[in-house]
Amino acid sequence: MAMSRRETSSAARLVSIEDARRRARRRVPLPVFDVADGAAEAEVTARRNLAAFADVRWYHRAATAAGAPDTGTTLLGRRVAFPLVTAPCGLAGAFHPAAEPAVARAAARAGVPAAISTCSSASLEEVGARGGDGGKWFQLYFLGGRDGAESLIDRAAGAGYEALVVTVDTPVSGHRERDGAHGVSLPMDLSPANLARLAPVVARRPGWLWRLARDRHSIEMGNAGAAGDIASIFAEPPTWADLGWIRERWNGPLVVKGLMTPADARRAVDAGADAVVVSNHGGRQLDGLPASLEALPAVVEAVGDRAEVLLDGGVRRGSDIAKALALGARAVLAGRAHLYGLAAAGEPGVDRVLELLAGELRRTMTLLGCASVADLGPHLLDPSGEGR
Ligand SMILES: Cc1cc2nc3c(=O)[nH]c(=O)nc-3n(C[C@H](O)[C@H](O)[C@H](O)COP(=O)(O)O)c2cc1C
Repeated sequence: MAMSRRETSSAARLVSIEDARRRARRRVPLPVFDVADGAAEAEVTARRNLAAFADVRWYHRAATAAGAPDTGTTLLGRRVAFPLVTAPCGLAGAFHPAAEPAVARAAARAGVPAAISTCSSASLEEVGARGGDGGKWFQLYFLGGRDGAESLIDRAAGAGYEALVVTVDTPVSGHRERDGAHGVSLPMDLSPANLARLAPVVARRPGWLWRLARDRHSIEMGNAGAAGDIASIFAEPPTWADLGWIRERWNGPLVVKGLMTPADARRAVDAGADAVVVSNHGGRQLDGLPASLEALPAVVEAVGDRAEVLLDGGVRRGSDIAKALALGARAVLAGRAHLYGLAAAGEPGVDRVLELLAGELRRTMTLLGCASVADLGPHLLDPSGEGR
């Protein structure tokens, strides 16, 4: 699928992730936008994720001239251009038919890994083959139960994925009230009857429907079918005991995603995790949890240098990446940010979102007087806002 010239010029005009979010809202039907934008129940945790970043205050050091900063680092032993991974998000094809292969190609161009969900629209093999030559991580849900999980792990290894991400915060889907209000659930039912019901809202976004029709795209899970259906994910979700056999079966780096406490992080590392992701699933699962940024320092302290500590939830700016690193994260994952870009302007939209995040990180580091990401630390924070 060639990148459209219209999307390329539209992407170039995006000035921030919030701008991409606004553009996405105008470009896809509201029920689809809300699948990405929404969160669980009262969305308290989702808001907290954003507020926690907004509340961080920098300690200002004037007249620092560190020169052009180097945003590069390593993640699980691989060089990355800046400390970010596109977060695994199910059914990217709902936002644009280019879907996960486009996200993976954009991530490869930006020099960062792409984590691909078990619930991806394109199959994991398709993303492997058409998703560019960057590092790809496979996010595991127990689709088809434990047997299905074993086969997904083998398929991911066969398709060249470099790391396995086991998500452990989804024994059941969070209650996303916006989806309920719109009467949609994913995979989206594109039967004529349901399309007729959704016609009044979809008709307001004819471009979205046209792109779907042009690419004969259906919003389904590419790894389902033989492996099992979406309900099977919740029938037999992973437990701590499962991490043992997963560790044995998967030879590459193992990442455990969806931890919020030092105790759980220690447990994951004891089970052989090379990295943990401090995450409340973008506020989409248990509402009422703290912000992941609030939970980060205690996990960093507990894990020490036994594993890499990553964070996701609420990353909307490069300065948020700097804040997470200053509080001890090695890198962040960004979910909605790249989905907004995809929905707003397809593959060029994801390119632009990643370019914005990298550029904002670079500028923040320059303003802070940091020559490299290793210079980002708690000494740059001013919690009281009164200086030191
Ligand atoms: C539409 C959508 C679908 C998601 N699907 C998955 C998934 O299939 N597996 C998973 O581990 N996390 C999933 N997540 C959670 C993200 O991986 C990530 O934890 C979250 O988006 C981070 O918060 P942020 O969106 O504020 O960056 C999804 C998030 C969104 C927005």
